[in-house]
Amino acid sequence: MDKKQIAGEAAVGYIEDGMTIGLGSGSTVYWTIKRLGVLVSEGLRVSGIPTSLKTEKLAKACGIPLVSFKDVRNIDITIDGADEVDPNLNLIKGGGGSLLREKIVAFASKSLIIVVDEEKLVNRLGNFPLPVEVTPFGIENTLQKITGLGCEAKLRMKDNQLFLTDNNNFIADCKFKNIEFPSKLSIELNQIPGVIENGLFYDIVNKVIIGSENSSVRTLEGSG
Ligand code: 5RP
Repeated sequence: MDKKQIAGEAAVGYIEDGMTIGLGSGSTVYWTIKRLGVLVSEGLRVSGIPTSLKTEKLAKACGIPLVSFKDVRNIDITIDGADEVDPNLNLIKGGGGSLLREKIVAFASKSLIIVVDEEKLVNRLGNFPLPVEVTPFGIENTLQKITGLGCEAKLRMKDNQLFLTDNNNFIADCKFKNIEFPSKLSIELNQIPGVIENGLFYDIVNKVIIGSENSSVRTLEGSG
């Protein structure tokens, strides 16, 4: 079985009847949402808060009832993917461009479960360029300030056009040599006017479920 599928489906084991669930974005949590849809069709009562328009569409197609922050204040559990996971369970997220909504939903959740294949495990964050959501206004100035922190920043493109997030912002993909102190860098980035949010998630993860080659799955426990 596909490593992403094993990890994604395993996360459903943590969902209980009556829960409100943050639904992450990407090709690993895709399998969580598909499996959850089956359980809903069999009678499980849950509601979901999607972290992207793509996830919203998928969840609707799977028959998962959706709610928004107008309806609920607390989310029981959020299940999401990641682009890199370090030994302290700090993450880089935003490969799909949904980091802002993902962070809002994760921070509103009692528990955050990350689903990945084993290739996402790294000794130190930073090989994957860090996605940073930035406003179009003043973009040249904002990029200059970001690169001043010691990275090469490239605006993300899609189909020969600047990639737009679900919030109509740009993504700067920022290649740092390595990221030694994620919390320090996250604070520095977010202090730059024009930066909306960055893809570093630290001290927030409760579990990482990892799908491996031989169809096995293992779970790391975090302090989040
Ligand atoms: C989207 C994300 C995704 O969770 C991350 O990119 C992982 O995606 P995938 O499971 O497809 O590898 O942060 O913004």
